[in-house]
Amino acid sequence: MTDLSLPAVPGALPDKRQVAASFSRAAASYDSVAALQRAVGNALLEQLPGHLEPHRWVDLGSGTGYFSRALHRRFPQAAGVAVDIAEGMLQHARSQGGAHAHVVGDAERLPLQDSSVELIFTSLAVQWCSDFGAVLDEAKRVLQPGGVLAFTSLCAGTLHELRESWQAVDGMVHVNRFRPMQEYQRLCAASGLHVQALEVRPHVLHYSDVRSLTHELKALGAHNLNPGRPAGLTGRERMQGLLRAYEQFRQSQGLPATYQVVYGILQKPLMEGK
Ligand SMILES: C[S@@+](CC[C@H](N)C(=O)[O-])C[C@H]1O[C@@H](n2cnc3c(N)ncnc32)[C@H](O)[C@@H]1O
Repeated sequence: MTDLSLPAVPGALPDKRQVAASFSRAAASYDSVAALQRAVGNALLEQLPGHLEPHRWVDLGSGTGYFSRALHRRFPQAAGVAVDIAEGMLQHARSQGGAHAHVVGDAERLPLQDSSVELIFTSLAVQWCSDFGAVLDEAKRVLQPGGVLAFTSLCAGTLHELRESWQAVDGMVHVNRFRPMQEYQRLCAASGLHVQALEVRPHVLHYSDVRSLTHELKALGAHNLNPGRPAGLTGRERMQGLLRAYEQFRQSQGLPATYQVVYGILQKPLMEGK
């Protein structure tokens, strides 16, 4: 099975057009099932440096705009830009305010000018980027000196229960791949940004059954889009096998689904090379 711990494999993450289409389709259902995303983004908001008073912020991978609205409440005088690769998500967000502009764009090639913003906030979006180094390069380019990149992402170990259960059934890739924490550490250290905080915290959700989990992933637009995923419908027998395999993880609260969430706060140096 391909793994992100291996050197860059062409197509190791889903095609960007598929990611955009999947999230656009999920725009209407997303908010009803986004409990983890809320908890993670709120924790990131709490980690923002207290002295930060941006004139201009970016919510990158803004989705339905929940955190654009939170950023607007926190920095009411500032101008906000919501950037997302999925036009459907931006359409959904536009009518609800928060950001002043909604722009289709890719975190690896931001449609923003050099040194133009003081804060880039991005929660649970950049795990979809195969080139996290490019995301950091773009953040460094777009941030003003002293500006802050605050991000959350997912690393290896995320949804390991589902991955291992499928592995027991057919040995195939049914769960999106996530890069190892060491890779986040290495890329952040090499980014030219000051790493003020970088840590991983597990969040465990519980479900009464496997179908509730897989339906939720679909409603979030976060179901498996990996190249090499099994095509077509999931056969009844294989589904039964999955349900049996997942049962070995059951706890008193239900079936666990672990998310390994990376939290990072990075700052662009005030002077180049410092
Ligand atoms: C799980 S949602 C998170 C949305 C929002 N940040 C939140 O926490 O509620 C991930 C979002 O990232 C967007 N996304 C994925 N890849 C992206 C990329 N390369 N550039 C910009 N946005 C991207 C998706 O379209 C989706 O709206």
